[in-house]
Amino acid sequence: MSPVATRRYLKTRSRFEVPLGNPADGFRLSEVISALSYALDLTEGQPMGHSVRACVVGMRLAHELGLAPDARSDLYYALLLKDAGCSSNAARLSQLFGADDHTLKHDHKLIDWTQLGPAAGYALRHAGGDGVLGRIGRVVRIAASAERIGREMIATRCERGADIVRMIGLAPATAMAIRNLDEHWDGRGHPLGLAGDRIPLFGRILGLAQTFEVFLAARGPSAAFEMLDRRSGRWFDPELVRAMRAFEGETAFWRILATAEPRTLVEAYEPGERVLEADEARVDQVAEAFAVVIDAKSPYTYHHSSGVADIASELGRRMGLDPVELRELRRAALLHDIGKLGVPNTILDKPGKLTEAEWAAMRLHPAFTHQILTRIARFRDLAEVAASHHERLDGAGYHRGLTGPQLSVPARILAAADVCEALQAERPYRGPLPWDEVMAIMGRLAGPALCPAVFEALRAAPLGRSDPGEKA
Ligand SMILES: [Fe+2]
Ligand SMILES: [Fe+2]
Repeated sequence: MSPVATRRYLKTRSRFEVPLGNPADGFRLSEVISALSYALDLTEGQPMGHSVRACVVGMRLAHELGLAPDARSDLYYALLLKDAGCSSNAARLSQLFGADDHTLKHDHKLIDWTQLGPAAGYALRHAGGDGVLGRIGRVVRIAASAERIGREMIATRCERGADIVRMIGLAPATAMAIRNLDEHWDGRGHPLGLAGDRIPLFGRILGLAQTFEVFLAARGPSAAFEMLDRRSGRWFDPELVRAMRAFEGETAFWRILATAEPRTLVEAYEPGERVLEADEARVDQVAEAFAVVIDAKSPYTYHHSSGVADIASELGRRMGLDPVELRELRRAALLHDIGKLGVPNTILDKPGKLTEAEWAAMRLHPAFTHQILTRIARFRDLAEVAASHHERLDGAGYHRGLTGPQLSVPARILAAADVCEALQAERPYRGPLPWDEVMAIMGRLAGPALCPAVFEALRAAPLGRSDPGEKA
């Protein structure tokens, strides 16, 4: 369906009465959040746009239920941010199974893990290990503690997701929905085992919408509705399943969901009575919150993004950047590694040398960063700075092989801050390095790789973990 036809459909109130916000109004928070939700999709091993499409399904359901505009607004952001905590259990999951967390998460969403057969089949298919005996041994270990570990991992994910929502300053009902999205109607969900209408309504809608979208994207509408029927009364509230059936035959809706540009959809489904604007302070909050999501992906990058942002900000001040440039630089630094959410933990946390193929996957992360951030019109320049953090002055960097004249001062500062923070942090293959050693290594990079003027500004006084004022 063409964008014009899509918009015409979305504006047809006679069949579909969700009030539409005017996308020409100001700068919407939903534009930022929906773009960044693409990074959450990568972490969950889902196709980009999964969260946005789940949001549209959930909002269509909310319309069917006749929810008030304020309630729909709280639900809307919960649907977009439902996976905000997903990076926090990726490393643990990958380590437990000895396998790629993206594949594990993707396939887990397609099974009924409350049933012994599918759960055992999943473990057998995915457990890594040396030889048959190694794999069997791992499956036995997983099985022995599956219930406890499953609950812990979902609890971590839900709590971290709710924390992120609070950092952005969204409503308590939005955080509560995310905390409850993996509870099941029959009480066999996680983390609390709530049953029936003790599960808050928004949590029930999130759980249904996310699973429905996964089946819809992977197997089509019939399979998605069959899944709802099979799990009605076990996973899902039967009333919600009945409400979904009410618009099953609305072919235009399902067609636009499958074909329309997700950004058009997400704009159209934000309740028009309460469109949240993204002022400067809110954008800062979002960038700080997503830095936490990014850093939670690997134990080795704990505090990396916030550390790089602190170093880059101080370097920017030393180099005379004005307040507007400093604000943009800090946001770029906080988000520079958002593309790492698309790299499996088997690569990020590998203790040994990466293979050629693994290294190629790692080198994609600035490209993902660029792809995600350029979806936000106001972030075009910021995206260039953020995605250039592995470029070198001599053109031997990645992912585009830019050279000195193409690299702005903020991009040069960010590249140096990234190296400076990384060298001071522990990595799978070495311990943290002291300041003198960091300076010796960076001194050799100044000229061919890093900007000499930035290096001089950095050398003036220790920054990052070597900073005498640094607490952690
Ligand atoms: Fe990076
Ligand atoms: Fe980095």
